[in-house]
Amino acid sequence: MLAQRPPMGWNTWNTFGKDINEELVMQTADAMVEKGYLAAGYEYLVIDDCWSLPERDADGNIVPDPEKFPHGMKYVADYVHSKGLKFGMYSCAGTRTCAGYPSSYAHEYRDARMFAEIGIDFLKYDFCYFPQHGDCKHAYITMSMALKSTGREILFSACNWGKEEPWNWMRSVGAHMYRSTGDINDTFVSYKDILDSQIDKFAMSAPGCFNDIDMLICGMYGKGFVSFNNGGCNDEEYKSHFALWCLFGAPLMIGGDIRNMNDLTRELLQNKELIAIDQDEECRPPFEVHSNHWFDADTRKFVKHLSGNEYVLAIFNTCPAERKLELSFDAIGVTTESGCGFELRDIFSGEEMTRFDNLYVDVPPHGVRMFRAKLISK
Ligand code: GLA
Repeated sequence: MLAQRPPMGWNTWNTFGKDINEELVMQTADAMVEKGYLAAGYEYLVIDDCWSLPERDADGNIVPDPEKFPHGMKYVADYVHSKGLKFGMYSCAGTRTCAGYPSSYAHEYRDARMFAEIGIDFLKYDFCYFPQHGDCKHAYITMSMALKSTGREILFSACNWGKEEPWNWMRSVGAHMYRSTGDINDTFVSYKDILDSQIDKFAMSAPGCFNDIDMLICGMYGKGFVSFNNGGCNDEEYKSHFALWCLFGAPLMIGGDIRNMNDLTRELLQNKELIAIDQDEECRPPFEVHSNHWFDADTRKFVKHLSGNEYVLAIFNTCPAERKLELSFDAIGVTTESGCGFELRDIFSGEEMTRFDNLYVDVPPHGVRMFRAKLISK
């Protein structure tokens, strides 16, 4: 079964946009292995938009741009596979890709055959230039069936940015993940808004088909295609971004330049505890604690049930100032008369504590405090 857990990998788009080529892809494949990303679980290397010539050839086939990929795509796919990685590519349900290249509307079976011949294991399928009276669901089930018809196991990564509430039907057309929002950019507001829009949409994100809240921006520091050359996020913000994607069990597709990540970003992206939370076998979305108290403005609080009777408690401070924040145990179902509390371990500092009387902690500006927890009785 594909996508038993949220898919993990790397995608060219966030940093490189149209500036992609064989050398970049092969160097990244090397780096994914040598720098420990594959061992940490990042197995898909995906080439996004801008890989082809601007027009199909006389036979109607999409042709890889020979300047960018002088040895063709099979050569690249074989190299990626030789490293023990899986290889992904990109097309679009409309008449053109978002960057204006030929795409698969009314060419689904022809293109799926080409992708299978190249040897892809993953197809990202976008939604630009979709005909005005086209049927979105039909477009996605058609490419899903076209991929199936090749006989090759190909993870179908649908990307329609939340159009027609994909959380209600993408699973039924055979997609293995579906983008539920518009594009992320390298700012705190971008990833916070994306998360806010999906907090109550994760019930349908489960083995076989996951809600994809877009690729990671960790370690971009304002460089690249979805940045504004303004320095990007700070380290605390990258930390909460990654931790929250893991808390929600979202697909983890790295968008930075894997070849040149600093140690902090590499350690964050390879944080075993966070990845284990993302990949937990029960794949449960976190439960959000709602509170109308004025003090809880600009705060998100969650408990996530993990397998093995463990939990994650998380407090996200969306304010640009440090605050002392409280997570009420009663609000997450551990009432005062229960006599129960939690043994807690801070996922970032390793600090351990036992609490029977709520969690009350300092949370950095735009930061998240996250604890692995065991329920205990007095
Ligand atoms: C859309 C998608 C992005 C990326 C670009 C490529 O905007 O949402 O993730 O694939 O297209 O053009």
